Amino acid sequence: MNIRYCFLALFLSMGSYIFAQKEGPSDAKIGLKDYYADYFTVGVSVGPRNLSGPNADLIVREFASITAENVMKMGPIHPTEDQYNWQYADQLIEFAEKNGLMMRGHTLCWHNQVGSWMFEDENGETVSKEVLLKRLKDHIFQVAGRYKGKIYAWDVVNEVISDAPDEFYRNSKWYQICGEDFIFKAFEYAHEAAPDALLFYNDYSAIGERKRNKIIEMIRKMQTNGIPIHGMGIQGHWSVFGPDEAALRAALDAYAELGIAIQVTELDISVYPSESGRRQKRPDEDDSFTPEREQKQIEQYRMIFQVFRDYRDLISGITFWNVTDRHSWLDNFPVRGRKNYPLLFDQEGKRKKAYDAVTGFSQE
Ligand code: GLA
Repeated sequence: MNIRYCFLALFLSMGSYIFAQKEGPSDAKIGLKDYYADYFTVGVSVGPRNLSGPNADLIVREFASITAENVMKMGPIHPTEDQYNWQYADQLIEFAEKNGLMMRGHTLCWHNQVGSWMFEDENGETVSKEVLLKRLKDHIFQVAGRYKGKIYAWDVVNEVISDAPDEFYRNSKWYQICGEDFIFKAFEYAHEAAPDALLFYNDYSAIGERKRNKIIEMIRKMQTNGIPIHGMGIQGHWSVFGPDEAALRAALDAYAELGIAIQVTELDISVYPSESGRRQKRPDEDDSFTPEREQKQIEQYRMIFQVFRDYRDLISGITFWNVTDRHSWLDNFPVRGRKNYPLLFDQEGKRKKAYDAVTGFSQE
């Protein structure tokens, strides 16, 4: 080869090498799951709409596990007593199997997204505790049984602890009819139906001391009574305004005392302060991703992942709730129509600066 072509070829390949280095941690072939391979499983919640197109590629590149966002919840999968909708849940299982992803199940018992038939007889009267527990058992045997050996962890019971300071359990239909027994029974049924699955209790606002203490008390009671519970799911619907580092570490220390696995099951970092109560977006409200919001989010993500890494012996999984900023449930909660930007991928599916903040540690 002509010597000039040799130099040209060398120059071009060095150029592309330097360019690739400048791309930094956003190496197209390495994803979150790889950066965190020695720490914990990184996952994401998905729906059937995510299983094809660019989102599917992103999921497979970045994540090692998926959670069903909606399709395994009681209402969607079991809309009437005699009817089960397996189609979409089966699709997620197939996608996970095909792509070597671990599968989390979500959720076997919840007060939301459950058909009202569950609590009523054919005359619309409230059913007895015996009937409701029988229905719960049938439901769990069908769903957890069908995916036995395919779902490695289940959020068995979701959000039964009350937010109110003077109330222990949420006053749901489940609780009104069964007292606390439905919680314990749900874990027993799940263990019978899928003996190898890890069984989690899952809740939000699980960092602050008041609710956390109630959660811990309930789990201790379960442990004392020999109820099969293997993990605590901290949902992780957080914000750039909190939790702070001290609160996060204090909560992880407190849960560590239980001696069970800890996973963050529904992580997203809202760019707004938390609000109680739902409302419409105000016309003058700016919901753009301002540099200030972006910076705050980078810092929050950097901090929480530093803490997660410090607790790698305790934490076995971190799951994001939704894939990219194009679609997040926070676009309509608690403020309807206010755009949020809570994830590590922007609306085009590109890695945000916050992504580099959580993966940058491996370059240190
Ligand atoms: C809770 C539930 C999730 C999901 C989110 C909001 O955290 O556990 O299944 O519904 O709310 O999308």
